[in-house]
Order: sequence, then C-alpha cells, then structure tokens
Amino acid sequence: MNNIEQIIKEAFEKIENADSVSIEAVRLEYLGKSGALTSILKSLSQYSIEEKKQIGARANRAKVLIEEAIEIKKEKLKKCALDERLAKEKQDFSSSFYFNFSKGSLHPVLQTIESIGAVFKSLGFDVAEGPEIETDRYNFEALNIASDHPARDTQDTFYLEGTNNLLRTHTSPGQIRVMEKQNPPVKVIVPGRVYRNEASDASHSSTFHQIEGLCVGGNITFADLKSVLTSFAHKFFGRDLNIRFRPSHFQFTEPSAEADMQCFFCKGKGCRVCKNSGWIETLGCGMVHPNVLKAVNYDPEKYSGYAFGIGVERIAMLKRGIDDIRLFYENDLRFLKQF
Ligand code: DAH
Repeated sequence: MNNIEQIIKEAFEKIENADSVSIEAVRLEYLGKSGALTSILKSLSQYSIEEKKQIGARANRAKVLIEEAIEIKKEKLKKCALDERLAKEKQDFSSSFYFNFSKGSLHPVLQTIESIGAVFKSLGFDVAEGPEIETDRYNFEALNIASDHPARDTQDTFYLEGTNNLLRTHTSPGQIRVMEKQNPPVKVIVPGRVYRNEASDASHSSTFHQIEGLCVGGNITFADLKSVLTSFAHKFFGRDLNIRFRPSHFQFTEPSAEADMQCFFCKGKGCRVCKNSGWIETLGCGMVHPNVLKAVNYDPEKYSGYAFGIGVERIAMLKRGIDDIRLFYENDLRFLKQF
C-alpha cells in the first residue's frame, strides 16, 4: 500500500515537470504494459483475497488519478503551445503595412456629376436613370427626330447588329422614359453615359457623359427655365458670374437656346479659355416640343415644360482647367490622383 502511495506521489511530480514530449514517457512508465501500476495489478495473485481487494482497489484508483493528471497536463501543454504560437504569429493590423495603401477617390467625371446633381437636388429635382442601350424610338423618334431628319447626322452612333437597338447618343431619351412612367408634374435630372460615332481628339470622345434636365407641369414658362439655370449657374460657378441665353435649334425643344456662362477664368474679361469672348458655351435647353409631349400622351394644351442637357466633361474641364478630354478615360493615375 505504501508503495502505491509512493508511486502516486512520484508520478504527480513527474507529470508536473513533463513537457509535451516527455509526458508520454511518464504515462508509459506508470500505466504502460510494464508500467509500475500495471505490474502491481499483475502481481495481485500472490496476495490473500482480502489483500487483493484492498491493494487492487487502491491500485485501480491510483491508475485513474494518474490518468486524469496526465490528461489535465496534456490539455495544459496544448493550450500553452497554442498561446505560444498565437503570440509568435500575431499580426499587428495597426502596423503601417496595412494602412499605407493610398485611398481611392471618385473619378473626376463622377465627382462632377455628383456636385451638379447636388445643386439640382437642392432646386427640387429628382434623379432618374435610363439604359445606355436604347431603341430608335427613345433616342430619336419620340424626341421628334424622324428617321430622315438631318439632325441624325450629327448624332451618328453605334448600332447593335440585327436589332433595332443603338447606344444612346444623349441622355434625352431619359425624358421620354420618365414621362411614360408618370403624370405631370415632372421635375427630374437624368445623368448618364452617352456615345457617338466620333473620332477622338482633345475635345471629342466617342464616350462621354451628360446630365439631362426636365420639368413639366401646368403653366411652366421660359422664365422658369431661365430662373432655374441661373440659380444652378450661381450655385455651381459662383454668384459673381452671369449666364446668357442664345437662340439655337434642337428638334425636341421649341424655342431652343444655348446657355453660356461668363468665363470663370477671366470673369468675362476675355482670355485664352473663352477665346477672348468672355463667355463659355455650357448647355443646350428649351421648351419641350409639343410633339415630344404628344409622344408620351401628355396634352400639350394642358401641360408645358422645359428641358436642358449639360455636357459633364465640358464642365469638369472648364472648372478644373483640363485641356484634353481623353485624359478622363486613360486611367493614368498621375492625372486621376489630382482629384
Ligand atoms: N440632347 C442634346 C445633345 O446631346 C442636348 C440637349 C439640348 C438636351 C437641349 C436638352 C435640350 O434637353 O433641351 O446635343
């Protein structure tokens, strides 16, 4: 019996001092086939029945105690190993490596769309979007541009073979799509990408962006158009600049006008940018043509409205002093990072 107590004491000490390798040796030393406790259990036959009972029970109990102690120690060693590994492999996510990536920013074209949009939203306009692939009806017919009209020549585009579809040449089809969906009053801007069959140079690109504007209701007049566009110009470019309207022609407006902003580089005095005229062409506009209202089943006797179309790149170029439209599409980070 004393021997068993001694074995337990010794085993506990060895377990306490073991590491993850030597723990197995300790187990074998006491519980293995020829281990100390196993030997005692094997030698029970030499004792009397009474002794067998006592020694056997005690030895079995010792076996359980040592087994448990080994299991607990193994768990402890496992946890220690994990802690050690975690400490060694710890990643410092606050280190500069993770935060030194330069931040991205919105493309200057998108920035311009957002800031123009914000001004029109503040003037009560909603925002809508239309598809870039359009049908002839939305892009031309419903906008009063018949298939034989010469206005089509200035808006040649990319046609999708075998269909009646084309890449929209302007955001004006957005007018038709919005009016088809709702009754007046309508007050909306439609920003988006447009396409033309155009050779690219410093001021032309086959892909560019526009923001369409449309307001239709009872008794809307040219005075409303002038007032809204003047507010836009003052809010976007500055109070000290004037806007002027020149007669023009668009198939989907009557009367039509082009609006010029006083040059904000020279404040109207005349410079290289405005070619010494003091004015810069900024947008096309006019009163919605009755044929356009008819195309969407609006009664032109009851409703009237105005529309306008703004070239986004043009505004961005003027505002930021950019002299080549192609810079927007080349993905040159030296250019883009400036915005
Ligand atoms: N859609 C015209 C273009 O791309 C621009 C335009 C002019 C839009 C007058 C309008 C407008 O809504 O009233 O050339």
